[in-house]
Amino acid sequence: MALGIIGGTGLYDFAAREKNTAPKCLIVDTPYGPAQLRQMQYEGQPLYFVARHGPDHSIPPHRVNYRANIMALHQLGCTCILATNAVGSLRDQMAPGHLVIPHDYLDFTKCRPLTFFDRRTDLPLHRDQTAPYCPQLREFMISAAHAHAVPVHSRGVYICTEGPRFETVAEIAMFTQWGADIVGMTGVPEVVLARELDIRYATVCIVSNYAAGITGKPLTEAEVEKVMAERLPTIHELLQAVLNRLQP
Ligand code: HPA
Repeated sequence: MALGIIGGTGLYDFAAREKNTAPKCLIVDTPYGPAQLRQMQYEGQPLYFVARHGPDHSIPPHRVNYRANIMALHQLGCTCILATNAVGSLRDQMAPGHLVIPHDYLDFTKCRPLTFFDRRTDLPLHRDQTAPYCPQLREFMISAAHAHAVPVHSRGVYICTEGPRFETVAEIAMFTQWGADIVGMTGVPEVVLARELDIRYATVCIVSNYAAGITGKPLTEAEVEKVMAERLPTIHELLQAVLNRLQP
């Protein structure tokens, strides 16, 4: 079984922290273009790491080639993907620094390819989204998070916006009424595409800020990056704990 990790803002490298293997840079050709990955072994299993925004954070959310990333992991035999996302919070109780393991999503993206099924295909087109995030991977993430002194929310509705701008105050007020708990720019279509290829997928969201209008203060990229840097060691440990649970 091969495993994949997709690191969001703040997580640009997983391999460097693994002392037991030397990571290899890999470019994988897919029908959607090339994907850049790092290949390593984790406890004897192949593990592939994708920095969603590129190793130097040069790819903005609306320009990420989600299809190439997911297809590359599929071509390499990945059956599970663990992801991370920086998010804004729409709820008082989900404070900056907290972790949220979403169970559902709302799609407010506008102009990105959302499917592999835009060509003729024999696969079923209409995939069930009753549990878009793998319940077992979510459970592993929740219990790994509980081992740390970091507040974790075991459910949450993630709304994905197109970006790269932050949301307006009116948008956040509307999303809150819709039932969203956290907002980010990259969760969709990743989860959708993984499901289309029958890859189990779950994500740990790191709350980096309250969303627009919640505190009245303007949002800055710097505050997002600061919280992500603080939470980085915890995220590494959490991902490793989940990988250990996934050993065959
Ligand atoms: N909005 C959208 N994406 C984000 C935010 C936010 O407030 N914080 C981190 N990623």
